[in-house]
Amino acid sequence: MTSMTQQAADPVRQEEFAGRMLQVLNDSCLGYLCSLGHRTRLFDVMAELPASTSEQIAGAAGLDERYVREWLGGVTVGGIVEYDPADGTYRLPPEHAASLCRAAGPDNLASFVQDLALIGLVEDEVVTAFREGGGVPYSSYPKFQEIQAEETARVYDAVLVDAIVPLVPGLPERLGSGGGLDVLDVGTGQGHAVNLLARAFPASRFRGVDMSESGIAAARAEAERLGLDNARFDLADAAAVTGPYDLITAFDVIHDLARPAETLAAVAGALRDDGVFLMGDIAASSRLEENLDLPLGPALYTFSVFYCMTVSLGEGGAGLGTVWGRQTALRMLKEAGFGEVDVREVEGDILNVYYVARKGS
Ligand SMILES: C[S@@+](CC[C@H](N)C(=O)[O-])C[C@H]1O[C@@H](n2cnc3c(N)ncnc32)[C@H](O)[C@@H]1O
Repeated sequence: MTSMTQQAADPVRQEEFAGRMLQVLNDSCLGYLCSLGHRTRLFDVMAELPASTSEQIAGAAGLDERYVREWLGGVTVGGIVEYDPADGTYRLPPEHAASLCRAAGPDNLASFVQDLALIGLVEDEVVTAFREGGGVPYSSYPKFQEIQAEETARVYDAVLVDAIVPLVPGLPERLGSGGGLDVLDVGTGQGHAVNLLARAFPASRFRGVDMSESGIAAARAEAERLGLDNARFDLADAAAVTGPYDLITAFDVIHDLARPAETLAAVAGALRDDGVFLMGDIAASSRLEENLDLPLGPALYTFSVFYCMTVSLGEGGAGLGTVWGRQTALRMLKEAGFGEVDVREVEGDILNVYYVARKGS
């Protein structure tokens, strides 16, 4: 179809793009099969098995063979699992297991794709928001806290104490010695980061706040399970925090908030003069043209449309979006009163950068 102002389509380019769209369709579907493979533990089970039949795999996983066989068909034609028609066996190569299994820790991308089903639940509401503005309430994402906590716990377990905390020079020593520090984590979710820190640094006192009742309940339950008497959790709005604290953290939170500027100002106000704000947030540019090669580019904009921007707009908020980017973050930190900001990276973390912010001069 062409009009007076449109050029005729280049048939080679058209054919190539049709192929690309087929790939989009197939890979999107594979994402759902990977989510199932994670949730049913099929990937974990297969990683431990030699080449096996669908009956053997289903038996080892404690699952229904018919479903497992159909799933195996999909992940075989999708290039994830190998199939030997001679004896009807399937095998998960170790090179693939390294990105698909719980044992892979932060490298497990199958855990990540659980988000697809979650955002599918709100598609109707997002379509309405495209037409009418507004957003989607947190209550429309029933499993958000659980899935988010599972995803980020893998990263925190692997790198929080040993790689993220040391991004602030001298911080491990100050957290661990003498009277310790007063620490607040805003938007703590299920509080796993706080509980890990509280366990690693018993000399310090930790508090996590979140607006999610289920998040705070899970955080308190974990603290109790771990017998921590230096971690507490409260249902509270991040924009209303008061101090004084020596360290305030916010991991993957600020861009979601309805009132990010007010929250950054409250954080600055709640810090002691020599205090530090450690903000982990998405590694991206505020300029679209600089994000073309981001390893998770389409995923980030998708999460933004289906969650991050949209929950903020749902509260009548700023709607910064997942990809608010480094330049906007630095500007907002400065406007909130942070005169000194270092941007640091953790090796192997392709998702986040860490802003080490001080009020300074
Ligand atoms: C993407 S999650 C990050 C959770 C956690 N920091 C982590 O890394 O797993 C963002 C969190 O911000 C919380 N949140 C949103 N608005 C908030 C507010 N006004 N005050 C406190 N927490 C808020 C949400 O409930 C959610 O738990």
